[in-house]
Amino acid sequence: MDKSVLEIARSALLSLIKDYESQHRCKVSDTDMNSIIVSLSASYNDYRLKRGITENLDDPRYQAAYLFTYFPALCHGVQSGIELLDGRMRHSFGSIMLQIADRRQNSLNVCAIGGGPGTDVLGLHMYIQDFLRDDGIYQDVFLNATVVDKHAEWRSAWEAVQRHLNPIDSQQIIMNYIAHDITNQNISSQVLSSVKKADIILMFKFVSAVKGLQGFKYNLTRLLREASSNTYIFYGDNLQGGNSEIFKDIAYDAGYEYIASDEAEKLKIPDRSDYLVDLEETYDRRYQQNLSMCFIIMKKN
Ligand SMILES: C[S@@+](CC[C@H](N)C(=O)[O-])C[C@H]1O[C@@H](n2cnc3c(N)ncnc32)[C@H](O)[C@@H]1O
Repeated sequence: MDKSVLEIARSALLSLIKDYESQHRCKVSDTDMNSIIVSLSASYNDYRLKRGITENLDDPRYQAAYLFTYFPALCHGVQSGIELLDGRMRHSFGSIMLQIADRRQNSLNVCAIGGGPGTDVLGLHMYIQDFLRDDGIYQDVFLNATVVDKHAEWRSAWEAVQRHLNPIDSQQIIMNYIAHDITNQNISSQVLSSVKKADIILMFKFVSAVKGLQGFKYNLTRLLREASSNTYIFYGDNLQGGNSEIFKDIAYDAGYEYIASDEAEKLKIPDRSDYLVDLEETYDRRYQQNLSMCFIIMKKN
């Protein structure tokens, strides 16, 4: 990508706020944004997560706060996590993905469960683009992606992001959003089909966000069981809090085999620049700059 994800996040969040202001004919002040960012961060504490209390992520102001606080670090987290696992695999993940893409007219079917604004999918795209560049391969790889998430309105945040991608990156990511609450036992045919046809399932920072919710384990196991044989799943989540054990239990139960895992303490965003620094001052809040995470790849039997 020619722009850094920090630059893209900055432009996208400003677009979201502008759109909100013109739709609602009101001003979103810097103080409003400060309290929204504070309340978004607070919604990720254990007490609130256990009770399923989340902020309204369909609200563009909360989406803008997410793009500021978490989006850049998490996109880099996806990319760096896959790169890290490459070192633990016999064949790199990039070469496996290219083999699949070759059979599918250069495209990969991706399903991001709890994929939010599109972080997981953009992170995968960033990984693939760097992989191709480092190996000197010229090839288009199109991601035909579905985000399965309680908040399908994340699509507005993605549209804001997409407007600031260059046309080639933008064309290579086809994004579709389907609303699905993981506490709901009923799985729609659209959700089922996006899981069934996936070459790769992404699940980034989802387990930690929903593990306290009623029925989560049972429903997620049922959903993952629907994937076809040889589907890969890339998981990443907070190192602390027993998330990876929960994930592995679910994945084994759903018929996946272990491929590789690794951990990273204080994984840094490589391209820290000035893009969000002035907004840090304006909003009087810092954006996330490093992550402590566990990454796992598994494959459906
Ligand atoms: C911490 S965010 C991670 C989002 C994205 N994967 C990323 O890395 O930026 C958790 C995601 O889970 C979604 N979510 C929260 N509760 C959910 C539920 N009950 N069912 C499905 N998705 C849910 C949120 O909308 C959000 O997109």
